Amino acid sequence: MTTTPSVLDAATAPPVAASTPLAARAIGLRKAFGSTVAVDGVDLDVPAGSVLGMLGPNGSGKTTLIRMLLGLTRADSGTAELLGHAIPDDAARALPHVGALVEGPGFHPFLSGRENLLRVAATEPLLGSREIAGAVDAALERVGLSAAAGRRFRGYSLGMKQRLGLAGALLLPRRLVVLDEPTNGLDPAGTRDVRRIIAELHAAGSTVIVSSHLLDEVEATCTHVAVLQSGSLVAAGELAALLESGTGGLDVVTPDVDRALDVLREAGVAAYRAPGDEPGVVVGEDGPPTAETIALLVRAGVAVQEARRRRARLEELFARLTEETR
Ligand SMILES: Nc1ncnc2c1ncn2[C@@H]1O[C@H](COP(=O)(O)OP(=O)(O)O)[C@@H](O)[C@H]1O
Ligand SMILES: [Mg+2]
Repeated sequence: MTTTPSVLDAATAPPVAASTPLAARAIGLRKAFGSTVAVDGVDLDVPAGSVLGMLGPNGSGKTTLIRMLLGLTRADSGTAELLGHAIPDDAARALPHVGALVEGPGFHPFLSGRENLLRVAATEPLLGSREIAGAVDAALERVGLSAAAGRRFRGYSLGMKQRLGLAGALLLPRRLVVLDEPTNGLDPAGTRDVRRIIAELHAAGSTVIVSSHLLDEVEATCTHVAVLQSGSLVAAGELAALLESGTGGLDVVTPDVDRALDVLREAGVAAYRAPGDEPGVVVGEDGPPTAETIALLVRAGVAVQEARRRRARLEELFARLTEETR
């Protein structure tokens, strides 16, 4: 359910973000398997139209969280919503609009890729019986599986199996597409295909949730990220904003590394020796503004050859987040 703020309440209306429609929502979701807490009370909002990258090392709870959102795994506590419907209670109203690729019971080994997909398509409530064949062929084409569509599933490579699963998620236009590690088993060409498909879905206005342990993949395709560590969400939000929050550090190139470190430390500025071959120092992100730092060094006689603001990569941000919580 979405709430529309009344114009009369404009002055006291919640911030825009609070009224943005959500494609998916987790509130305090928790799931344990025996003594293993797979997902430990996760709150997550997935805005409609976003491409959310769910990041985390293997075993951090990505698949379990996704399965709870889809109603495939029952949560121990907390609630899930898809497209405004409570999951699992109202799953039947949400799921026709949701395409999903998740690990789990797969396709029939002795049927061809096309035959398997025809079976899946027959269970789609929004596909009329006369639309099924066309939808299946279009989906096979979209994932690059047309040529192999007549071969038995059991002869498929891991990458072809992934492509067939992806085709199942794309049988009809979806408001939400959930892809759990879609590039597992795919070669570089397959990975590019997945990126293209995600970009097409985004351009068409669909929301995409894509989990991955590959940071580059997420950085290239996502508008939002959620970072899981040992079942807990350690960061979530817009990718650009998260990367911004991870910046502010300054790289200073200078041959006078020891002197520079002394000067900065005396001034109470956190700094360390630059890694890599180029001599220099790295000023921590809580340091003073660039001009101030340079002035400080130059006044003390340090030869500053170059200074540049660091722009964090997702990889650095991720390392920082997962270290802090360890
Ligand atoms: N069906 C299950 N039975 C027992 N333990 C499970 C099951 N599913 C997941 N786990 C455990 O829960 C944790 C999170 O797993 P998972 O959600 O698959 O993480 P990810 O997808 O990030 O690799 C892991 O420790 C995993 O071993
Ligand atoms: Mg997983």
